[in-house]
Amino acid sequence: MPKVTTRTFLERKRAGEKIAMLTAYDYPTARLIDEAGVDAILVGDSLGMAVMGHDDTLSVTMDDMVHHTRMVSRAAQNAMVVADLPFLSYQVNAEEALRNAGRLVSEAGAKAVKLEGGAAQWGTAIRSILNAGIPVMGHIGLTPQSVHRLGGYRVQGKTPEDRARLLGEAQSLQDAGCFALVLECMPPDLGAAITQDLEIPTIGIGAGAGCDGQILVMHDMLGWGRTRFTKTFVDVRAAMAEAFGAYVNEVRTGGFPDGEHEYQ
Ligand code: KIV
Repeated sequence: MPKVTTRTFLERKRAGEKIAMLTAYDYPTARLIDEAGVDAILVGDSLGMAVMGHDDTLSVTMDDMVHHTRMVSRAAQNAMVVADLPFLSYQVNAEEALRNAGRLVSEAGAKAVKLEGGAAQWGTAIRSILNAGIPVMGHIGLTPQSVHRLGGYRVQGKTPEDRARLLGEAQSLQDAGCFALVLECMPPDLGAAITQDLEIPTIGIGAGAGCDGQILVMHDMLGWGRTRFTKTFVDVRAAMAEAFGAYVNEVRTGGFPDGEHEYQ
């Protein structure tokens, strides 16, 4: 299978073929996800909640992102690795945004970066990252780095004003040069309307079936966490809990190790 690039994203949209993305944060899981044939793996700052035990994404640092993106990049053979720019890594000024995006590419092997919000706020940062040759994915709707301003994790674009704002933000991010957009947590008709308006693909998470692709947080779709909108495809949490319990029980009762699990 050929390596997925930003060009593949555009071709998929033009051909009407759906794009499948998942998050990953470590080597063995990223390897399985890559082998399953996903188009792109996002090293999301959902890392903070899914893996690091934080209540939100705001405490995730650039060093955290570099560390986890490196593991995922080593695993990805065909999928494109996109890494999140964490809170305060692009908001201060365009120079810092470029330096931090550059770290995710040069130190960690990402092929693109993602940031949250519209081009009215981050247009200069986006252009400076693009000028250095790094593709940028946008992210609008529910933007978790702004959770306090939004007043919680709630559905966006429900009023006519908010809907118009999101349609405008999507267009401005395309004009600024983003190669794709994540649409998070909005009514499906708005997800579909934004998708129809744009030439670049939209990747939805809780934004309906009208998007050009979908993304889920890996821990959530495995029933191993609950950080975002999801469907549970398998409950690994129950299987893991059962295995951990069986191990503790066998160690305590002398059932493990048995003759089969010893060196001769
Ligand atoms: O941080 C993340 O994992 C994300 C996706 C859920 C879109 O931003």
